[in-house]
Amino acid sequence: MQTADVVRSAFPELEAIDDDELRERVVEIWVDAMVENGYDDVHAITWWPPLESKLDGDSVTTVEHVRDVTRITISLLDAVEADLDRDLAIAGALLHDCSKLYEIDDGEMNETSELVPHPHLAVHLLARAGCSDALQNVVLAHSRGSAVEPKTLEARIVQQADELAVDSLFWERNGELRP
Ligand SMILES: [Fe+2]
Repeated sequence: MQTADVVRSAFPELEAIDDDELRERVVEIWVDAMVENGYDDVHAITWWPPLESKLDGDSVTTVEHVRDVTRITISLLDAVEADLDRDLAIAGALLHDCSKLYEIDDGEMNETSELVPHPHLAVHLLARAGCSDALQNVVLAHSRGSAVEPKTLEARIVQQADELAVDSLFWERNGELRP
């Protein structure tokens, strides 16, 4: 299977993006991340070693987590009464953790992750791919590690979706919120 098809089948939520060019740009960023880091199997990327080691029970993959965040984002888009750019939020959710492929080697955080923290590395990848400033803000602001605040309601939704997804992982397995 072509790498782009691996990405499309891993993330069925891509179909929720209306704009063809934006959807293909999201696929392309994931494909580049896989090729540049030697991944054939997108499901082989673990979620986040520093927190995963604190989870009781089974492990979690980045694909599972990104899909959780995207599903929660779509639910929030459906629920919030405001004129929202759904493509912006859904693309942001699908891309928010694309940098992990560059940050984790053999299940351990690498030196890149220390020198160029997670949200900054992700925004670099989006800028390189020509993503809009608004989409870069969604990804940059999803993690409190960037100290950049969401500037749109769409960015706030993705930030909240990520926090809810992580809290629910811990609630399900450990019976407590994220440590
Ligand atoms: Fe995340």
